[in-house]
Amino acid sequence: MRPVKIGLLGLGTVGGGLVKILKEHHDDFVKHQGVDIQLVACSSRKRQSAIDLGVEDVFVETCEEVIDNPEVDIVVELIGGTGVAKDFIIMALEAGKHVVTANKAVMASFGKEVFDAAENHGVSIMFGAAVGGGIPIIGPLKHSLTGNRITSVMGIINGTTNYMLTRMGEDGLDYSEALHEAQRKGFAEANPSADVDGFDAAAKIAILASIAFHCRVTMDQVHTEGITKVTPMDLQFADEMGYTVKLLAIARHSDEGIEVCVHPAMVPMEHPLASVNGVYNAIYVVGDAVGETMFFGQGAGSGPAASAVAGDIIEVAKQLTDDVKVFRGCTCTDDYPIVPIDDLTMQYYIRIPVLDRPGVFAEIANIFAKWQISIKSVVQRGGDGRTTDLVVITHEALEKDIQGSIVDIMDTEVIVSEPQVIRLVD
Ligand SMILES: NC(=O)c1ccc[n+]([C@@H]2O[C@H](COP(=O)([O-])OP(=O)(O)OC[C@H]3O[C@@H](n4cnc5c(N)ncnc54)[C@H](OP(=O)(O)O)[C@@H]3O)[C@@H](O)[C@H]2O)c1
Repeated sequence: MRPVKIGLLGLGTVGGGLVKILKEHHDDFVKHQGVDIQLVACSSRKRQSAIDLGVEDVFVETCEEVIDNPEVDIVVELIGGTGVAKDFIIMALEAGKHVVTANKAVMASFGKEVFDAAENHGVSIMFGAAVGGGIPIIGPLKHSLTGNRITSVMGIINGTTNYMLTRMGEDGLDYSEALHEAQRKGFAEANPSADVDGFDAAAKIAILASIAFHCRVTMDQVHTEGITKVTPMDLQFADEMGYTVKLLAIARHSDEGIEVCVHPAMVPMEHPLASVNGVYNAIYVVGDAVGETMFFGQGAGSGPAASAVAGDIIEVAKQLTDDVKVFRGCTCTDDYPIVPIDDLTMQYYIRIPVLDRPGVFAEIANIFAKWQISIKSVVQRGGDGRTTDLVVITHEALEKDIQGSIVDIMDTEVIVSEPQVIRLVD
């Protein structure tokens, strides 16, 4: 059996998990998959990482040395970010090496450049760990579900924010308490912006939308809102109304084009995504033939992410072992417009902190009427006698009308603080 030789860049969380899998499962891969995978070179900034992982014998000082090593068939990039990692990916592809990466940042912003390099040099680029960590979602979208026209992909694809929202909903923690707890437990970075501001989820949904709809979507095209304004009060009201609040990444293919956004959403309790709690991720996919499907699992962590990387390595290794060339280029062959969020129609939860006095609701209702927003239900909640919260659920309304109404509401004298708007998703 021809050995398939791996060069590994990055020996951190995922790189370390991969080294462990390659060691522990080497013989299984030979026996069950018919591939003999050998790690022949690796690099990271610190040699100590290689010593700790027991791979010092194949450690080299620079990533260029790994890429230039003529023995290496597959370069595995597990450094992360769009700096040197992107350069190394392109360099490896241009050197005729197959590349496996977990790098969502590069794939969501520079996918075209990466695919062009792969195509021009007749090699594969695999990135199964870039979305959903250990959840197999890219493989099914690219293979098992290709008999469908995918109409929507919707997911909880950031474990940090899902953990925080779960703790805020179940135990009444406020945003900063939930964040500190997540940081203490190692679920959130010291700088949590990528997670709490929604950018991590935006990169991932850009990748999923590109694959599902055969149309390139980049991260900067994703309307992105994070969870920083969500309060325990909103989670409590949601619960009373039969909803839960999740940070959803949503991509839909409609007659108007591609809708793609990340924002907190009220999800009905009976929806499959509503019960996905803690650091878990799930991706809900609807296809015209298959109907509804849902993929669930751990979206991050050494083992889960390395599991996806190993799966990609084995797929490429099988092709090399069997000497079959199954090069699959970029599948983004179509062009659709991105529908601006302003043009979307949804139902809304709007909590309006107002003065508690007669005539206030009439004033607010007049503003909604002016913007053609029809109210489905309204309740008055809590308050101290001086102020209270009006909680309004609308019928379907245009986003731009909702935003217009909020500007008008903010101009009234009865408003106490900025209203909270959360979109309803079914
Ligand atoms: N962690 C997860 O749960 C997870 C899940 C899914 C996908 N991913 C993706 O997997 C990738 C790796 O993430 P990670 O969590 O494993 O990161 P990490 O723990 O920070 O590890 C990064 C590794 O890259 C090395 N490195 C950094 N800059 C380098 C440079 N200029 N030259 C050479 N080596 C360099 C680091 O070396 P030193 O340690 O020696 O400094 C370290 O070994 C990222 O793209 C991430 O988005 C991660």
